[in-house]
Amino acid sequence: MALDRLRKIMEDSVRREIAVSIAYLWQHVKARGIKGVVVRDILKEAAIEEMKHAEALAERMVQLDWEPPTDPTPIRVGTNVKEFGQLDVEEEKKAIALYEEAIKVCRELGDDVTMMLYIKILKDEVDHLTEFENFLED
Ligand SMILES: [Fe+2]
Ligand SMILES: [Fe+2]
Repeated sequence: MALDRLRKIMEDSVRREIAVSIAYLWQHVKARGIKGVVVRDILKEAAIEEMKHAEALAERMVQLDWEPPTDPTPIRVGTNVKEFGQLDVEEEKKAIALYEEAIKVCRELGDDVTMMLYIKILKDEVDHLTEFENFLED
């Protein structure tokens, strides 16, 4: 049923937010070269935003009487800015698809609070995607 579906989506959401938060922070630390200088701050800012997403989603799960998970999805860091860009674009696209699905399920359930949260987070992910796509340009 829709409520079980929402719980599963929220668990997946928290897991992936934790994973990308760590991935982007390590990319920030590892960024080298001229391109690295340019992307470092963007990655750090995104890492912090993702951790805030994890917090907000976990907070909402607790309000719904659900235990937020602690185990991240696989963390992929990469070795250079081009790879960071490829991995991060992939992650953001996955997040956008998952959160659009979350919004649909929330609408079905009439859960406006969770829906508003996902809409807010979705906007951030679209911004991240736009920024990371720039990493791939020469
Ligand atoms: Fe996020
Ligand atoms: Fe993101």
